[in-house]
Amino acid sequence: MEFSFNVNEVFKSPIVEITPNLIPPGYTGDRRALWDTVSKVGEVVNQMGSASAAAQGLTKAITTADRIRNSEHKLYFLIDKNANSGKGAVTGMLKTGNKSLYVFDRDGNHYQVQPPCLLDFYIHETKQRNGLGKVLFEHMLQKEGIAPVQMAIDRPSEKLLGFLNKHYSLKDPVKQMNNYVVFDDFFPKRSLPAPHEPQTQSEGIRSKIQQNPNSANGLQPVPSPMGRYGAPRPPCSMGQIIHNQSPNEQRQETTGRIASQ
Ligand code: COA
Repeated sequence: MEFSFNVNEVFKSPIVEITPNLIPPGYTGDRRALWDTVSKVGEVVNQMGSASAAAQGLTKAITTADRIRNSEHKLYFLIDKNANSGKGAVTGMLKTGNKSLYVFDRDGNHYQVQPPCLLDFYIHETKQRNGLGKVLFEHMLQKEGIAPVQMAIDRPSEKLLGFLNKHYSLKDPVKQMNNYVVFDDFFPKRSLPAPHEPQTQSEGIRSKIQQNPNSANGLQPVPSPMGRYGAPRPPCSMGQIIHNQSPNEQRQETTGRIASQ
């Protein structure tokens, strides 16, 4: 995406990380120049956020400069220095942040977690399927010191699910009621009792929640209530509060899905 200003003067490296103050890394200049630079970064955030929303079929951008300023999220931009007659262009955007979530595994066991989340991800239409998404995603993984399976992903598109399958062999997502998805290795593996060993109910619960030290997130399972009380429940207003969603933050997407964030 091209801008009227010189992108290379604002973003000095091929991938830049933007924090809520919207000051690009390596910025030097006086106060007036800072205001100008921050407003240019804000323009990039808003334009890329709108393009990403359009690409995902959302009616409203989930990434805007105002939202970034009021968050603890991080944005990564991918820059093509040679585009636009040497003025540079912004080719990709990726947003991450930690969220407090309740997540369920396939057996209905639930966990209270604050995992790193993939909140928005966009490569310009003219540049998709050229490996640029992988370059940006890998940079983020390395900067944040995480593996893809440790992340919860907010409303992934089919393209993103294809991307995760292709590059990281992540398939068969565990879909959550809050529109996030995770993958099986996100959860600790639970050791099941040998079939011939009779167990009391409390022994059974204890062995079920034994954690595999190799689990992706070192999750603390919340011991689930048994029987029908343990079954996943439909979303409720308290659930929305827990998942950081307020009714005002929810939007109906054109696809009919509810978008938060
Ligand atoms: N249709 C289907 N799969 C696609 C795709 C498309 N138009 N574009 C990318 N993918 C998936 C495929 O698995 C593809 O592999 P393939 O070409 O061998 O089929 C793989 O991603 C390509 O990887 P890479 O080139 O590194 O990714 P990218 O630069 O295209 O970036 C996205 C991936 C998802 C960020 C990019 O496609 C995009 O911006 N899509 C629109 C916005 C979006 O859906 N964002 C996800 C937010 S939830």
